[in-house]
Amino acid sequence: MEVNDTKTLISAADIQDKVAELAGQVDRDYAGKNPLLLCVLKGAVVFLADFMRRLTVPVEIDFIAVSSYGAATRSSGVVRILKDLETSIDGRHILIVEDIIDTGLTLKYLAENIRSRGPASVKIVTLLDKPDRREVEIEPDYCGFRIPDKFVVGYGLDFNERYRQLPQVSILTEGRDS
Ligand code: IMP
Ligand code: MG
Repeated sequence: MEVNDTKTLISAADIQDKVAELAGQVDRDYAGKNPLLLCVLKGAVVFLADFMRRLTVPVEIDFIAVSSYGAATRSSGVVRILKDLETSIDGRHILIVEDIIDTGLTLKYLAENIRSRGPASVKIVTLLDKPDRREVEIEPDYCGFRIPDKFVVGYGLDFNERYRQLPQVSILTEGRDS
């Protein structure tokens, strides 16, 4: 059984305030447009659910699931698409919704893949950013919180698929399986 301890890094209330603030920015920037929110499974679902309910511009949502090929091909940044979009993105304004940008490899590949499909625009909103870990050049257009190089869980983020349900973002202070 897992016996990990967690320590709150960002409270549920602070997350909600920030989500509202981000939605306000996006509302202003996309006024008169009809963006497609592209949620990266699974971690970003909680953020998407709160974020979209704060938006007043008309949006549609779609989901994409990606998986890294693993250590051997990690440096290439090539990721495998496990579940692709169901919507045609030709001519659409795409806002990629991410939970966290770490090395940036996943998002760099994904953003380029999406750009190659002829959208009108592609922007990125991420709740969390760990800039110290970046291996490739990629910057979010909207970012909730810059955080230190610690492994975090909660608000959609997992450790071995657990902890996604926490309403706050926490640091995993101790991790072992027995
Ligand atoms: P990247 O390609 O290194 O930027 O990987 C980003 C992905 O790794 C995120 O979408 C998360 O799924 C996962 N990840 C990165 N850092 C953390 C963390 O601190 N906690 C949980 N998942 C993380
Ligand atoms: Mg993710």
